Amino acid sequence: MREAQKVWDAPVRLLHWALAAAVGIAWFAGEGALSVHEMAGYVALALVAARWAWGWRGGRFARFGQFVRAPGVVGRYALDVARHREQRHLGHNPLGGWMVVALLAAVAAVGTTGWLYTLDRFWGVAWLEALHRTLAWGLMALVALHVAGVVFTGRRHRENLVTAMLTGRKRPAGEDDVV
Ligand code: HEM
Ligand code: HEM
Repeated sequence: MREAQKVWDAPVRLLHWALAAAVGIAWFAGEGALSVHEMAGYVALALVAARWAWGWRGGRFARFGQFVRAPGVVGRYALDVARHREQRHLGHNPLGGWMVVALLAAVAAVGTTGWLYTLDRFWGVAWLEALHRTLAWGLMALVALHVAGVVFTGRRHRENLVTAMLTGRKRPAGEDDVV
């Protein structure tokens, strides 16, 4: 077997696992430990900002330009998945690319509404509290879909994508793969 190829750079990997941890802590701390909840939420917001910046300046597979594809490409890829003939992507696949954008936007929206709710201007405003909670549940639905997608894609291409997000390395691109 050929040597594994470096795909995810260190900032992508660090930011990913730190973000998953911060969102997890914010979710489980909840109202019962509000100071922990708010701190973890602010950390998540800072991590999203860092990942956003890295998406323009980072390594090849970290860039939005590499993995955010046009709707037509995403649609064709989804059809190929349904027909069991989608190509393997070394970076994020076209569906996964939009999931990255959706996850980052969702964390930003949950964190921002949480922060707004703590301001004097909005404190106790029921609709904002409801919005914060609803967005948080939406984020959890996306995370569930995200993990399902990771497991599904890993099975399809017989590789462990979670290990790849830890080590940064993946099986090198074959002739039919998209790099
Ligand atoms: C709150 C929880 C999570 C959030 C917000 C989150 C968010 C993200 C984001 C933004 C990316 C894109 C990475 C990048 O390019 O920077 C990503 C990728 C990835 N995540 Fe998560 N993630 C979460 C939980 C998890 C969990 C629990 C797992 C383990 C099963 C996981 C496994 C992965 C993998 C394997 C990738 C790479 C996908 C690929 O190969 O294209 N994530 N995640
Ligand atoms: C990714 C980050 C976040 C997630 C997933 C999240 C999620 C949630 C959830 C699920 C609740 C309801 C908790 C419960 O019923 O026990 C909640 C409540 C709350 N969150 Fe967040 N949150 C996040 C970030 C933030 C931030 C950054 C702040 C403010 C700095 C914040 C402030 C609050 C406050 C004040 C409440 C209590 C609202 C009330 O009085 O009922 N959250 N959050």
